Parts: sequence; C-alpha cells; structure tokens
Amino acid sequence: MAWRSAPSPADDEEGIRDNLESWDAMAHMHAQGSGAEFYRIEQWLAGESKLAPWEIEEMGSVVGKSLLHMQCHIGTDTLSWAREGARVTGLDFSKNAVAEAERFANILGFNDARFVVSRVSEAAEALEGEQFDIIYTGRGALCWLPDLKEWARVCATLLKSGGTLYLEESTPTVNILDSEEGPDGPRLAPKYNLFNEDPISEIGEGSYADPDWPGERITHCWEYRYDTIFNALIEGGFRIESLNERDELFFAPWPEFFETSRPNYWRLKKGNVPMPLSFTLKATRL
Ligand SMILES: C[S@@+](CC[C@H](N)C(=O)[O-])C[C@H]1O[C@@H](n2cnc3c(N)ncnc32)[C@H](O)[C@@H]1O
Repeated sequence: MAWRSAPSPADDEEGIRDNLESWDAMAHMHAQGSGAEFYRIEQWLAGESKLAPWEIEEMGSVVGKSLLHMQCHIGTDTLSWAREGARVTGLDFSKNAVAEAERFANILGFNDARFVVSRVSEAAEALEGEQFDIIYTGRGALCWLPDLKEWARVCATLLKSGGTLYLEESTPTVNILDSEEGPDGPRLAPKYNLFNEDPISEIGEGSYADPDWPGERITHCWEYRYDTIFNALIEGGFRIESLNERDELFFAPWPEFFETSRPNYWRLKKGNVPMPLSFTLKATRL
C-alpha cells in the first residue's frame, strides 16, 4: 500500500469528484470482496455489532428514535443502530455504497431502513426537510468534507432541537503521523501539517480494508484539528456535551505498529507509548 503525493485538486468540486470515484470503486470490494474480512461482514451478518461498547453506552437508548447516519458507506454501522432499536436512514454520496447498504438491509430484513444517495452538502434538500432525533457519523467521515462549517450547518438543519449529534473519529495526533524507515526500523514521525488548509492529496493502490487491492485511486482528504471541529459545531448551534479519547482505533493505519484489541478495533503494540488514537464527541442541537 504505497501512496505518494498527488497534485492538489483545482477546487473542492474536483476533490469531491475524485473522492466519489474512489469510494464508488471500493464499495463492492468492502461489502463482498477482499475487504469483507476487515469489515467482518460474515460475523456482522451473523449478529455481531459494528458499534463499540462505548458508542452504545454514550449514545444512550436509541429505541424508537429516528437516526440519520451521515456518510453511511455500506450500511454496516447504520444497520447496527437498527439492531439497537433505532429507525434508521443512511446517507452517502456513493451510489455503489448505498446499493450495498440496501442489499444488506434486505438480507437482514430491516424493511423500514432507508438509504439515500446524496452529498453531505445537499443532504437537507435530499431529505426534504425531515428532521431526526439523532445524527451519527464518523470513523473516517469528516476528513472527506472540505468545509466543516457547512457540515455543522447541515447537521443542525437535519436535527430536531434538543437532538443529538454523535461521532467517532481518529485523533489529530494520529492524523499528523506516518510510518517511515528509521535507523532501527520503522518509526512513527510527524508528516502532515494540520495547519495547512489544503487537502492532503495522494495517489496509490490498496485500501485500509485490503492493502493489496489493485487499481490506482486519487484521494483528497482534509484532516481536522479539534478547534476546527469544535468551533464549527459551536457556530452551527450545538452545545458540546462530551469528548472522550481512547487508545484504540477503528482501523490500523500502520499495520506494523498495531495489534487487534477487540473486533473492529486496534491498539499500538506493547513497547510503544500509548497515545490517544480515537475520540468520541457528543453534542446537542440547541
Ligand atoms: C470510511 S466511510 C465512513 C463510514 C463507516 N465508518 C464505514 O467505514 O463503513 C466514509 C464514507 O464517506 C462517504 N463520503 C465521502 N465524502 C462524502 C460526501 N461529500 N458526501 C457524502 N458522502 C461522502 C464515502 O462514500 C464513504 O462511504
């Protein structure tokens, strides 16, 4: 999985188009191909949840509540919330991902689960003014959005007053680092400047779900600092309720440094100084 720098997109629109091509290409592989092992599709279809225990605990009961999963990908997280009792809607700009999510909803018999193809920026129009009790998102979602202020505004429009926004993401600590070859073997070193407002543009093969997956793709991602996320939410009309960091992560960005900690999560191998790898954030729409 060797990725190298690519030219920046001419504008956000070009960046989003490249990203859509990349996500459309990966959806089938993640749901039914060589990425299905990473996604634990077999275990998940058999009843395993994709949600971490802390997500279920921090969210509180979702029984009977309307839940919108923004950037739902192939619907595995969305339908895990349906198993917890929520009435779910998933939204994603990849029609291939949404087709896989609908296929899973059929297999599992969630006939009232709904999946919508839309960009985040157009979600309020796509959902025709509907408002939800809960918005859930994350685990590799925010970094695909060029404008977090717009994202927060869209989320505020889609949530009822008093509604909950809940997300899990990788920490800024993780997002500045990369693995490089040092004198004593691989080491983690700062590589990405989170004060740079341009996206990180890269080209390469492989996916986090299958490092050997062939076919070059260009991606552009906007990694965010906490202040950008917090200020977007505060300006968008949210009150931050909690922020919790953990030494476990929902993927293994540098496999040589990670070991499985539980299904769907990894932590740094013994001998490395533990660091905050992921965080969950809960906010209320005022
Ligand atoms: C890593 S997935 C996150 C979902 C979940 N954690 C998972 O892995 O199943 C990121 C998702 O964001 C979607 N996405 C990226 N940019 C988007 C945009 N501008 N509007 C809507 N969806 C977008 C992609 O299609 C992809 O399905």
